Amino acid sequence: MAMMSNPLEEISASKSPDPCVLVIFGATGDLTARKLVPALYNLSKDGLLPSHFVCTGFARRPKSHEQFRQEMFEAISKHSRSKPIEQGIWDSFSEQLFYHCSEFDNDEGYEKFKNFLQDIDAQFGTRGNRVYYLSTPPSYFPQIVDKLSKHGLLYDPEVVQDRFSRIIIEKPFGQDLESAIKLQRELESCLQETQIYRIDHYLGKETVQNLMVLRFANAVFESIWNNKYIDHVQITVSEDIGVGTRGKFWEEAGMLRDIVQNHMMQLLSLVCMEPPVSLQANSVHDEKVKVLQSIRPISPDEFDNHIVRGQYGPGFVNGEPVKGYRQEDNVNPQSGIETYVALRLFVDTWRWSGVPFYLRAGKRLPKRATEIAVTFKEAPGVLFNRALGPENANTLVIRIQPDEGISLKINSKVPGGSCLIQPVKMDFRYGSYFGSTPPEAYERLLCDCVLGDSTLFARQDEVMASWKLLTPVLEYWKHTAPKNFPNYAAGSWGPKEADELLQKDGRTWRYL
Ligand SMILES: NC(=O)c1ccc[n+]([C@@H]2O[C@H](COP(=O)([O-])OP(=O)(O)OC[C@H]3O[C@@H](n4cnc5c(N)ncnc54)[C@H](OP(=O)(O)O)[C@@H]3O)[C@@H](O)[C@H]2O)c1
Repeated sequence: MAMMSNPLEEISASKSPDPCVLVIFGATGDLTARKLVPALYNLSKDGLLPSHFVCTGFARRPKSHEQFRQEMFEAISKHSRSKPIEQGIWDSFSEQLFYHCSEFDNDEGYEKFKNFLQDIDAQFGTRGNRVYYLSTPPSYFPQIVDKLSKHGLLYDPEVVQDRFSRIIIEKPFGQDLESAIKLQRELESCLQETQIYRIDHYLGKETVQNLMVLRFANAVFESIWNNKYIDHVQITVSEDIGVGTRGKFWEEAGMLRDIVQNHMMQLLSLVCMEPPVSLQANSVHDEKVKVLQSIRPISPDEFDNHIVRGQYGPGFVNGEPVKGYRQEDNVNPQSGIETYVALRLFVDTWRWSGVPFYLRAGKRLPKRATEIAVTFKEAPGVLFNRALGPENANTLVIRIQPDEGISLKINSKVPGGSCLIQPVKMDFRYGSYFGSTPPEAYERLLCDCVLGDSTLFARQDEVMASWKLLTPVLEYWKHTAPKNFPNYAAGSWGPKEADELLQKDGRTWRYL
């Protein structure tokens, strides 16, 4: 079977990465062990790291380089997508792993680190190039950037052209519009926008990258990708897990901040954007930000009607009894934090005028699934003696996780003498068609940052447009305690108000 390549992947693969040191701030944390170091190992295995490359952790727990390597070996063994660890790959990869112990506010620690990095440059030929990954609690982002700048570890790209320094910032980028603007100003005092890579790991997922290919490399879809043919779009992020050990974090975040403001808005912008003039990062960002700025502001009288918030109570998931949110560790027993959000948005452009976009995201739902479903208008009911009904409308589903792929629901005649019509699915699965599991999102994103390609990262105006839209909702919720929490049982599809949100428009949520 012919193997088709991904044009976006080729763009990155065609460049060769410059030597560099990747510094992970917060290297003893969960993200480093579960995602970052396993991603680096797989990049090393696939030959995608620079030939002169070092990764060094930076955190406050004292440990030797050897201890750090041992811990990372265990992390890779547990979390790598490719298993078992190949000894030869590990041996050379581990020689490029180091650890530096310091508090984030300790000037002496940064001075020692600077000398350490100079030694690394001399030993490994990494030429002073730096990527700093801030995998730390967000409150430390400004402090670390400030210390790096003060100790000469950041270079102004307008002055220094023979080396680069870039910062990868983990989510969340602010808690609301005001804090996001403040963080942006703090970063701008030390960095140019071209040096800042705001990570949204959804953008590194294979199916999300291929949204652009699906739309702009297939005339068949692009010509019907508008309000003339599309009835509505549903975007779902459903998790079966609860908040687990992250109760403290969740009490300050909630679903609107954690998933909707960043991941779902990014998906929406990719579905709706106009074709960019090129695949250069700024061209793509220019089109995405126009979408985010075109979303109709949610007026205060819609807060209760078109935005539903929910919180799970006790229930059953996969046949097992599970706690309600308020019974989870480190959660206020009276908490008003939402673990579910459903909302309706409109993108006020010529292309999308009148097309509703329904977004829902929830924890402790019956299954884990992230998808975008584009439902087309019904065919006129002039033939076959009847209209076929909304349940038979053609639907294009882009499955983001799990089982990445694309399916198209079309109507077909049931074989036999009568003219019975039944919907059937044309299904494309990445795993079975391309014969391999797609790389982890973090692999692609780390690789792109080392290459200096920010296309799959969020630009500051995208982040601000999204906060501008959703901050009034957060403000309203802050001052209006939910009266009915918990309002859905763990293991159900969310509060009944979410169903009513679509019923009012004569529609229903897709059954996943
Ligand atoms: N974990 C995830 O799945 C996930 C997913 C998406 C985004 N994120 C984001 O990624 C970032 C990191 O998350 P995480 O879950 O890895 O956090 P974490 O497990 O709490 O790790 C935080 C890290 O920062 C270090 N640290 C904290 N305060 C420090 C200080 N004053 N000086 C030096 N080191 C200090 C910790 O060192 P000690 O171990 O010594 O305390 C630890 O290495 C956060 O911004 C989070 O929002 C995480």
